[in-house]
Amino acid sequence: MIIFACFYLERIESKSEMKKYNFNAGPAILPRQVIESSSAAVKDLNNSGLSLIEISHRSSDFQAILDEAVALTRELLNVPENYSVLFCHGGASLQFCMIPYNLTRKENPPAYLETGVWAKKAIKEARLFSEVEVVASSADDNFNHIPTGYSVPENASYFHVTSNNTIYGTQMHTTPETTVPLVVDMSSDIFSRPVDLSKHALIYAGTQKNLGTAGVTMVIIKNDILGNVDREIPSMLNYQTHIDNGSMFNTPSVFAIYTALQTLKWLKSLGGLEAVQKQNEDKAKILYDEIDTNPLFSGTAKEEDRSLMNITFVMEDKELEQKFLEEANSNNFIGIKGHRLVGGFRASIYNAMPKESIEALVSLMQEFANKNN
Ligand SMILES: Cc1ncc(COP(=O)(O)O)c(C=O)c1O
Repeated sequence: MIIFACFYLERIESKSEMKKYNFNAGPAILPRQVIESSSAAVKDLNNSGLSLIEISHRSSDFQAILDEAVALTRELLNVPENYSVLFCHGGASLQFCMIPYNLTRKENPPAYLETGVWAKKAIKEARLFSEVEVVASSADDNFNHIPTGYSVPENASYFHVTSNNTIYGTQMHTTPETTVPLVVDMSSDIFSRPVDLSKHALIYAGTQKNLGTAGVTMVIIKNDILGNVDREIPSMLNYQTHIDNGSMFNTPSVFAIYTALQTLKWLKSLGGLEAVQKQNEDKAKILYDEIDTNPLFSGTAKEEDRSLMNITFVMEDKELEQKFLEEANSNNFIGIKGHRLVGGFRASIYNAMPKESIEALVSLMQEFANKNN
């Protein structure tokens, strides 16, 4: 019995020590130190004898956590004074409805750029409030690029874009020029590079990719874009409520905000967002170079719009694709299967993805090509 128990324990230990390469699209890989410090706080927050998840959100301990998360966000993204940093509920998906609720003036239909499924979902919600002007779409090319050459009506209530299209592996590399308030879904690339917030009226992101765990949505909003609609807005869906109550109108997800704070500290320790962007460019190049030179693989996104966060690629031979997927799975590569709308493979390489894991994937691709070409 004792021998069996020892054998069993050893198996569990060695299983958990097996190196995993986590390429999940979100929830996604987090820095190890964020996981360590967050789990330590769940056991005992600051030697208080209480767990992070059993303290009052009104306690001074939690207020300090929230204040520091807001302050670090302001510092890292260089947020101007006249913008508010909010932690909201409901994921990025609730923003699809909160944005038109708060910003759409019926006589000034908002403009949207349709670059993928998430943009389509945002458009669907906006249509509950008014007409919507879809200024351009790449739907006919299965969203393999970011449209250009469109114009945004000067009287639009706002212009909404998705900066990084998680499913299709495309990313905007410049901020759209527009005279109307610019609203950006940054769910899958927030904190991956510097952002000039003065060109934006509102940015938002679910936190479960580059900022921590699911449970909160970061919204950064220019204060003076509010108060220009005449509809009644339910309190929880009204940005002004959350500004007036410092993101504490109701009970926030203390755990998700704590994890976000740990991630923000880690980003600062890397040297800020310019350094992070440089790392992301270097990491993505390693994989794109392999996709472009390996005879078995090809990228799906147009070169100039390639994402630094989600890298999508396919193989011509679908049977080989299945074989590579099995090979990847058996070598502990997790989450590499492409979204069903694109097929093939998707490697999500958010901020926390170590360069070594990308190099390991490249080695696997090279070995596979040597065996199967
Ligand atoms: C670009 C983008 N927007 C919105 C969402 C939806 O986020 P949530 O699940 O937080 O509602 C996702 C989720 O993957 C996404 O990638």
